[in-house]
Amino acid sequence: MMIEINDVAPLRKAIRARQRKDEAVAFVPTMGNLHAGHLDLVRVAGERGSAVVVSIYVNPLQFGQHEDLDSYPRTLEADKAALEKYNIDILFVPGDRTMYPRGIEQQTKVVVPGLGEALCGEHRPGHFVGVTTVVNRLFNIVQPDIAVFGKKDYQQLIIIRRMVSDLAMPVEVIGVDTVRERDGLALSSRNRYLSAQQRTVAPGLYQTLREARDTLQRTEVDRSRIEADGYRKLVDLGFSPDYFSVRTQADLSNPDSQDSSLVILAAARLGQARLIDNIEAELGCQ
Ligand code: PAJ
Repeated sequence: MMIEINDVAPLRKAIRARQRKDEAVAFVPTMGNLHAGHLDLVRVAGERGSAVVVSIYVNPLQFGQHEDLDSYPRTLEADKAALEKYNIDILFVPGDRTMYPRGIEQQTKVVVPGLGEALCGEHRPGHFVGVTTVVNRLFNIVQPDIAVFGKKDYQQLIIIRRMVSDLAMPVEVIGVDTVRERDGLALSSRNRYLSAQQRTVAPGLYQTLREARDTLQRTEVDRSRIEADGYRKLVDLGFSPDYFSVRTQADLSNPDSQDSSLVILAAARLGQARLIDNIEAELGCQ
């Protein structure tokens, strides 16, 4: 039976009762408007933990001034109906006062330097500080043993891993593969901002990443060449790319010739939507 909780004290009480029974608590933080990608994280949480907590909170701190905080879809009733089909224990739906009792200006922040300013961080200043700050607070409230994140937001996953390591948090972070539409487009709440015409173009982002991955794995081609070609292909398709970049899986640094576990990450605007996607590449394993 899923129970909905909105405040810290009752949540702690419900979780303590489960921890006393030695149940491993698995946690899935979300901003709601749940789709099959989110629900796959919930499924994995259910496999890995014996008590599952899902949170829904549209975190104002991670939205830039001109971003879509106000129009971000809030669909709590539909989300609850979707979650009913999974064996979750607690749905945590805090309000702004619960998450930021002193307001977002006065809130203590968690900063992951370097990693938080690269790639999406460069184009969305302050975004990852908002993410790490809210996830840190959610972790302290829920105190999970396991936390599940999607590889769809690859940089977010790596930043959370870094935060957990740097702050010695006793949480095991699990990354789950991206769930896609049949044509390859990664599921995202922001896909709803695409017009019908843009929706036909959108799968080109993943297609371009796949082609770049194949080239990277097949040939000795220069990394900067792959990046420039990918960027240009996106422009040709009608996207306005923010970046198209080959990095190491471990810490998103620029790879050298020794690195073989790579990831290609891209962000591109298409009309009102800003789409992100990525693909992992393994070199020299043929
Ligand atoms: P949100 O965008 O709601 O995503 C919640 C989780 O679902 C994240 O871990 C994200 O990577 C994962 N996810 C989204 N689309 C996915 C897909 N197509 N396949 C697999 N997983 C997918 O990410 C956030 O919220 C917020 O930044 C949050 C971590 C909750 C902090 O506010």
